[in-house]
Amino acid sequence: MKFTVAIDGPAAAGKGTISKGVAAHFGFAHLDTGLLYRAVGARVLGGADPVGAAQNLTPDDLRGDNLRSADVAQAASQVAVIPDVRAALLMFQRRFAGRDGGAVLDGRDIGTVICPDADVKLFVTASDQVRAQRRFDELLAKGADITLTQVGADLTARDARDAGRENAPMKQASDAVLLDTSDMTIEAALAAAIAVVQRAVSLPENQG
Ligand code: DC
Repeated sequence: MKFTVAIDGPAAAGKGTISKGVAAHFGFAHLDTGLLYRAVGARVLGGADPVGAAQNLTPDDLRGDNLRSADVAQAASQVAVIPDVRAALLMFQRRFAGRDGGAVLDGRDIGTVICPDADVKLFVTASDQVRAQRRFDELLAKGADITLTQVGADLTARDARDAGRENAPMKQASDAVLLDTSDMTIEAALAAAIAVVQRAVSLPENQG
């Protein structure tokens, strides 16, 4: 059975947690596509050429323990502007989406560019203030030396770059369901996402 769930949205809106939870609930595979761009960004910070890095990513590159840092996040957003970097990562994402047994992909352009025919599309967002606080709490828990103001400024810069680029900008697909998690607990947000996916799974064309 092929079934693709596309989950897009800005940084720290909760899409990672929701995607993992949806995948676990339905027994689907999950791909955090931001991690691909982060792995390329990390290699560029280490001196590599962005396009070469994207063309030669290895599973080991996805395991780096610095991939969640603020510096790597900015580098990821910068390399993501380069069309040849995006092109190098496209087929891997599409193959993953088409695997048997169902797949959840989260990112910025999944519902618009990578999987325009996805069975379900969600656009997960939250207010700037809530997202900054969530990401600040996460980074703090990892022992990062950073302020809430810095985190907010980083997110604003990244959102502007991700939404403003010419190639595959972050954008809600016209057929995506909007989920604003600003005033939701993670449990409530996940339940809402599962309900949307369940409706699509239950459609007659997806039965059997
Ligand atoms: O989801 P994330 O915060 O880990 O993503 C890091 C950066 O990667 C994000 O700022 C933009 C880029 N990205 C992208 O351009 N397209 C995607 N599908 C996923 C991430």
